[in-house]
Amino acid sequence: MKPKRYHPLLVALHWLMVPLIMLALIMGGNVLVDIPNSDPAKIDALRGHMLFGLSILALMLVRLVTRLTTSHPAPARTGKTLADRLSQPAHWLLYAFVLIMALSGVATSMMSGLGEIVFFGSSAPLPATFEGLAPRAVHGLVAKGLMLLIVVHVLAALYHQFVVKDRLLSRMWFGQR
Ligand code: HEM
Repeated sequence: MKPKRYHPLLVALHWLMVPLIMLALIMGGNVLVDIPNSDPAKIDALRGHMLFGLSILALMLVRLVTRLTTSHPAPARTGKTLADRLSQPAHWLLYAFVLIMALSGVATSMMSGLGEIVFFGSSAPLPATFEGLAPRAVHGLVAKGLMLLIVVHVLAALYHQFVVKDRLLSRMWFGQR
């Protein structure tokens, strides 16, 4: 039989990752990109962002394994065919976008030698810009897609909770399964 709720580890990871991902998106898009690479403060800002992003990557991998190996509730239904059909792919797209964000960030830093400069005290200067690197372009583009998907995800959850009134949010909270 299908459980009423998600596994408690998945619930904990879901709510822990909400502020982490929001902060990474807001700080990355509104603070980090506005600091020129010639500013000495950029290295500290990059270090913070990269550590944050790598933590999200580690948590996301644990979350993915937990999602694939534990039982979970049956897909929620609104009665609207299109919305019901899109809900499962949208959830997997959320996982994919977060993983692509982290991996494209890692690829950007590998291609520009950031690891040595930011974490291992290399005195090499930062590249003048990250523009022109394909993973950097993916990082910026997928960030926009992820923001959009998060907005749709939150609206869908609120629609279930307050319009369909199926107590959907209780599935993503602790309690008897
Ligand atoms: C889920 C995790 C992550 C999120 C949500 C995130 C978010 C962002 C955002 C929103 C931007 C600005 C994009 C733009 O406006 O074009 C950015 C830039 C950047 N991120 Fe991430 N990031 C993540 C993980 C990482 C990781 C793991 C690394 C490296 C190890 C990384 C390295 C960078 C770099 C180098 C930039 C470019 C900064 C610049 O152009 O000055 N990110 N990130």
